[in-house]
Parts: sequence; C-alpha cells; structure tokens
Amino acid sequence: MNDSFKVQGLAGKAQLEGVVSIEGAKNAALPLMAAALVMEGETKLTNVPDIADVHSMNKLLEGLGAYTTFKNHELSIRTAEANQTVLEREVAKRLRASVLLVGAVLARSRKVVLPHPGGCVLGSRPIDLFVDGFRKLGCIVTEDTDTYTFEAPNGIAGGELFFRVVSVTATETFMIAAVKAQATVTLKNCAMEPEVIALAEFLKKAGARITGAGTPTITIQPSHVEPPAEPFRVISDRIEAGSFLILGALVGKKIEVQNCDPDHLEALTETLKDMGVHVFIAQNSITILPADKLKPIDIRTHEYPGFPTDLQAPFTVLLTQADGESSVLETIFDGRLNYASELVRMGANVNVVNPHKAIIKGATSLKARNIDGPDIRAGLAFLLAAAVADGESIIGNAHLIDRGYERIEEKLKSLGLSIERVTT
Ligand code: UD1
Repeated sequence: MNDSFKVQGLAGKAQLEGVVSIEGAKNAALPLMAAALVMEGETKLTNVPDIADVHSMNKLLEGLGAYTTFKNHELSIRTAEANQTVLEREVAKRLRASVLLVGAVLARSRKVVLPHPGGCVLGSRPIDLFVDGFRKLGCIVTEDTDTYTFEAPNGIAGGELFFRVVSVTATETFMIAAVKAQATVTLKNCAMEPEVIALAEFLKKAGARITGAGTPTITIQPSHVEPPAEPFRVISDRIEAGSFLILGALVGKKIEVQNCDPDHLEALTETLKDMGVHVFIAQNSITILPADKLKPIDIRTHEYPGFPTDLQAPFTVLLTQADGESSVLETIFDGRLNYASELVRMGANVNVVNPHKAIIKGATSLKARNIDGPDIRAGLAFLLAAAVADGESIIGNAHLIDRGYERIEEKLKSLGLSIERVTT
C-alpha cells in the first residue's frame, strides 16, 4: 500500500479557519514505551498518538514477549513475559527510535541484539554514542555487518558519561538503562528536550531516583521501579502543534491550535512574531492570524530550547512566502535540506549553498506538483507547500507522514483544505 494525498492548493490565499486539537507527542510516547520494559507489571499510558511509529514500537515490544493493547489513545504494556532479546529486524530497520529499547532490554535481560536502526533518511545517523556509552558502563558490544549485540553479563556498571554530541535518544536510552545499573550513573551534555523531562517524570513516578532532567547533567541512582499506579499522560506534541502554527501563518485566516504547551514552542512562536505573524498565546492553546506582510528571517536549528530541526522543512515553506531574503542553517542533521530541490520545482527560489545552509528569496508563488516526501517532516512540508500552491498536487509516501501525524488529512480538511487520501 502506497497512499498519496491529493491537495487542491489555495494559490496563496489565507483561507483556512478553525480549531485543531494536538495529540500526544510521538517523541515522548516512544521512550515511555521503552521504559515500560525495565519494570515488571502493567504500564498504562494515556494520550498516546495513534500513529504508525507507535504501532511499530508495539510490534517490537511484542516481539520481545510483552503484551500490548492500544485503544482510544490508551496503551497498556504488560511485561511479565518480555524475556526475548532480539529486536525484530524488519520493524527495527524502519524505526530509528528502536534504539531506545537497547537500554531497557539490556537492563532487563543483560543482552540485546539490534539490527542497525533505520528511521528518517537524514544523512548518516550513527549509533556510536550508544556503543561507546555502554562500553564505558562495562558492557560488551560486538558488531557484524548490520547487527549490534550488547551484553552485560555482570549487569550495567555505574559511572560517568559525557556525550560528545547532544542526542535526545541517547540521553533517554541511558536514563532508562541507568535505573537498573549497579551504581550511580551521571550523564553529561544531555539533551534538555521536554520529552526527556517527561521520561524522567515517568521514571520518578515508578520509583526511580533521577535528578537534573532538563539540565545538561542528569544523575540516576539505581532504584527499584514498578509501573506507576495511575496511568501516565503523554505530553502534547510540540512538533505537530508547530506544524499547524506554520500552516496558520501560511494559509490561515484564523487557526486555533488546542491542547498544546506554548512553553515548548517559544522558539517558533517568537520567530513567527518577528516575521509579523499575529500569535495569541493562552494556557493550552495558541491562536494564529497571518501577517499583514510576512517579513524574511534567518533561522538556525538547535537543540531544545532552540529552533527544532523537525520544524525546519515546514518552516522553509513559509520562508518562500516572506518578502525578501531569508536563510536556514541546519545544525543537527546532514541531509536535512535534500527536500529543497522539490520546492524549487514548485517555483520557490531556494539556493542550497552547502548541506547545512539554504538561502530563500521570496515571495514566490508556488505551482502544484506531484512529489514524494522523503521523510516525516519533509513530507509534511510538502503538504504545506501543496496547500499554498496554485493547482492540484499529489504528495506521495503518505505512509511516512502517517509515522508521525495522526489523521492529518482529517485535521487539514476540518480547517477547510481540500485534501483527499488516494490509495493505489
Ligand atoms: C530525536 C527525535 C527526532 C529529532 C532529533 C533531533 C525521537 C524519537 N526522535 O532523534 O525527531 O529530529 O531528536 O531533535 O525523539 N548522533 C551521533 N551519534 C549517535 C547518535 C546521534 O553522532 O550515536 C548525532 C546525530 O547524527 C545528530 C545529533 O546526534 O547529528 C542529534 O541527533 P539525536 O538527538 O540523536 O536524534 P534522535 O535522538 O535520533
């Protein structure tokens, strides 16, 4: 099955209107699901997004012997028989976040076999931080063509790890593993994303002793953990919320984004305001009205609380509509500007100066095209480009967008966009 989205563009007119409700965060749900494996019993999560990546993670958990049930955004994970140690190859390869399971399975069963993890095609996505880190914590890591085996015959040792590069999933993986280490683990140069803090909150509710989440240094003392009695609520998805805010700035008349946490979106909302977009922030919602005249701006992606790399491609579409020269500096991933050539095909003036930098000159009107999205976020960016373009576009690889966005066409339709899923 390879679905596409057929979108009738608005030719630059600011017409979309209404309220959109944001789901739980993909990048918060996946580490919580992995963390369930370091505990015995039933973990209950609520506000879990019904997206393909969550289903893939469930498959991996079941392959390890866990039982999962998932309905109405409520997920139950029972771990009593989760004693397998090999991650299912086909699933792990399409989900980079499968690497989150390494810490949990290693802590639980003292061994884990991981095919080289897949995920978005964003240049090379190494796993050296995981390999080096577990080695430093006394584990044995062996590697053949595309499989890694991690073993901790005497358990995971305590110690101090300094991450050479700030990594979200490495921070989370070692937090999970360290709960079951033989002694205290101190992690330095950690990611400070809200999803890291949410994982720490969950582990603390389970009995873990963790300090420093949300700062660069996190300390985890070995602890007895068991699933919290109360279901744990997944935080709202700041990337989904940000995507709709960008849509609002692009072709919105007035869009209210509900069930979001505005504190997690400041890098975006401040940038939008600087461009002249009208942004109204309430406690759990943000309302957006278009700029009278959209000003150009320079952005630089950065670890949280900086501008999120996951919003870089959608934001670049907005920059094509700003009046003047803007620039984008992508500092997190190589290859995350590859989608730009398709925007050029639509009529945008985007010059990729080097793999990390693009100059955008606007405003340019975009023409409808048939394009395949290369990954979740660029796929979403193409939907936005199709929405602002003149004519009917077909955006292929809907399955990649489905990895991270729940019922995207339904939500866009409710705001007034003419969009249809086409199954071929
Ligand atoms: C997470 C998010 C993803 C987001 C990214 C950056 C999840 C499930 N995914 O991905 O949506 O785009 O953060 O905000 O939370 N690196 C190494 N060695 C490693 C691991 C990473 O050099 O072993 C590098 C990467 O190549 C990249 C940088 O670290 O340049 C940051 O990537 P990282 O934070 O690890 O991204 P993910 O956690 O995979």
